[in-house]
Amino acid sequence: MAPMAGLTDTAFRRLVKHHGGCSLVVTEMVSAEGLVRGIDRTLEYAEYTEDERPVAIQIFGGDPEKMAAAAQVVEGLGADIVDVNMGCPVPKVAKHNAGCSLMREPEHAAEIVCAMSRAVRIPVTVKMRAGWNEHELNAPTLARMMQDAGASAVAVHGRTAAQSYSGSSDWELIARVAEGLSIPVFGSGDCVEPRQIIDRMGGGRVSGVLVGRGALRNPWIFAQASDMAAGREPRVVTMEDRGRFLLEYIDLLLDEGINEQKGFRHSAESMRHSPAFALRASARQGACVPGSTDGRARGRERWVVNKVRALGSWYTKGLENGGHLRVAINSAESVTHLRDVIGRFFFAQEAEATALKGGGYTDTCSRRS
Ligand SMILES: Cc1cc2nc3c(=O)[nH]c(=O)nc-3n(C[C@H](O)[C@H](O)[C@H](O)COP(=O)(O)O)c2cc1C
Repeated sequence: MAPMAGLTDTAFRRLVKHHGGCSLVVTEMVSAEGLVRGIDRTLEYAEYTEDERPVAIQIFGGDPEKMAAAAQVVEGLGADIVDVNMGCPVPKVAKHNAGCSLMREPEHAAEIVCAMSRAVRIPVTVKMRAGWNEHELNAPTLARMMQDAGASAVAVHGRTAAQSYSGSSDWELIARVAEGLSIPVFGSGDCVEPRQIIDRMGGGRVSGVLVGRGALRNPWIFAQASDMAAGREPRVVTMEDRGRFLLEYIDLLLDEGINEQKGFRHSAESMRHSPAFALRASARQGACVPGSTDGRARGRERWVVNKVRALGSWYTKGLENGGHLRVAINSAESVTHLRDVIGRFFFAQEAEATALKGGGYTDTCSRRS
């Protein structure tokens, strides 16, 4: 699954993994600076659980030394892979010589990957775009430089930074990158149906496909693609399944930081033992108690509501009456209200459809526009 800032949190990744077919998850991008300084929020973005493995933590930054130090923190956190973001076009990131602006400074980008590869034993990978703009489509050259600098794999989103998300991903260019490299190359962009994953994987031009927005709309996309790859019909996802997914997502978000076995989550050992980290961790634990009557619990609930709203804007796409659901989710002010909206949308329709059909509801395609 492709990294997506604000969306591919540990709760979402766990649920996707649980449904099967997804062989690698990548965290949302995490600031190298924040990791090195042990910033609480940054460390939260880097959290993962054992059931997500193998897991790559993606970092962004522009300073080779800091990126190497951040890679060591990632290694200390126990991640399987450290991935470098060279594709983010957001000015906040790009203006600090990070994200996709590294594509305009290939030597500097190579220095970063070289420093990181020397600093850690885990694989260092790079995620880039096709290039800066249509006149600077340098992914084939940059990817080769990354390979020479020590990268173990690269992933290419076949749009330029200038395109942002307009147009379409250039899979011919991605194939050209793959042809020129001996390390694995993963393609990214516009796989929103399981069939598209199978088609992109076919022909052996790329070693894998990273799925982003398709997973936000349909977290079963990987499981369905693996059904198809095995020659089976893709599994049917009912409205009830979709509703249950959202409810489980809410429960996992509410549970974060509490009721966890020791060692379930991963934190850099050096930071775990620092008093500042312990203080922040205990403050976070307190803020995590759902149902508590103080203001902190409301803060946590607000956070959960906002997370579900963010996912909801993608998850509702293509659903019949998805626009109504999106509006209802966006106007829900509490977790109770959210659960109620989900219950009425997914489970009431399910019961109605079951009654109408006199049996189990299976025709999910008819609910997609
Ligand atoms: C909301 C959102 C957040 C994203 N955040 C990241 C990120 O943090 N790091 C990254 O490398 N790519 C990020 N991407 C790009 C995706 O990983 C992916 O390459 C891109 O969306 C194209 O794939 P898709 O068509 O399957 O979505 C993001 C995309 C979206 C839509």
